[in-house]
Amino acid sequence: MEYLKVKETADFLKEKITDKPRIGLILGSGLGVLAEDIQGASIIPYEEIPHFPVSTVSGHKGQLVSGYLEGKPVLAMQGRFHYYEGYNMKQVTFPVRVMNELGVDILIVTNAAGGIHESFQPGDLMLIEDHINLMGTNPLIGPNDDQEGPRFPDMSEAYDRQLITHARKCAERIGLHVHQGVYVGNSGPSYETRAEINMLRKLGGDAVGMSTVPEVIVANYSGIKVLGISCISNMAAGILDQPLSHDEVIETTEKVRGNFLTYVKEIIKTM
Ligand code: 6GU
Repeated sequence: MEYLKVKETADFLKEKITDKPRIGLILGSGLGVLAEDIQGASIIPYEEIPHFPVSTVSGHKGQLVSGYLEGKPVLAMQGRFHYYEGYNMKQVTFPVRVMNELGVDILIVTNAAGGIHESFQPGDLMLIEDHINLMGTNPLIGPNDDQEGPRFPDMSEAYDRQLITHARKCAERIGLHVHQGVYVGNSGPSYETRAEINMLRKLGGDAVGMSTVPEVIVANYSGIKVLGISCISNMAAGILDQPLSHDEVIETTEKVRGNFLTYVKEIIKTM
């Protein structure tokens, strides 16, 4: 039933997008500008796409952009659906399933995240090496359609090792320092308490955010390889002695925008 919707949406999009996209991009808070560099772009607002939910949060645009980045056909989500907005997990991950149906085999997921590791600073980038799902749910709960993926998908290499190696080489080539670490996915929308951040650090978390985990689970389920990049927009609670604000998150992402754009383009160019 759900799979039928995925197919209908994919069929609708096939008419509108230029080429078969192999690379999918999910652009997080403040990082959507990358889509503006897509050549020969077809822009499709989420409202026009059958079965697509509609994005509501400020700083998230809500459209698909297809075209070419560094000569490669890509399909980008400018703005994603968050669980904290009230969408259910099936809605949050619906676009990834559509991407899979369209032939995407590499997904680059990006987000703004709070830094937990003491060596991180706002404005740093972190390659996601693994994640911890603390969202309290899973997008694959419910009946399974074996056409889409296995009932019990392997998550032992959720973030593709070769893609991480590739991304590290790209960073070196352009002289950019990037961290590598574990992303913790919380439901939000409240930020964590200091005690919670203290706990997450002890559990092996390096950065924390409110997205990415559901999309990455569904990508793995569908056989899509994932590269994840977090932009450390602020330090998490209790790491520095200052309160958190969404404005800081937006402000910092605007500052790292340049580095981020150059970096993702280099990754795609040499993919
Ligand atoms: Cl500190 N926590 C969460 N959950 N998400 C964030 C964040 C912190 N900073 C940016 N996004």
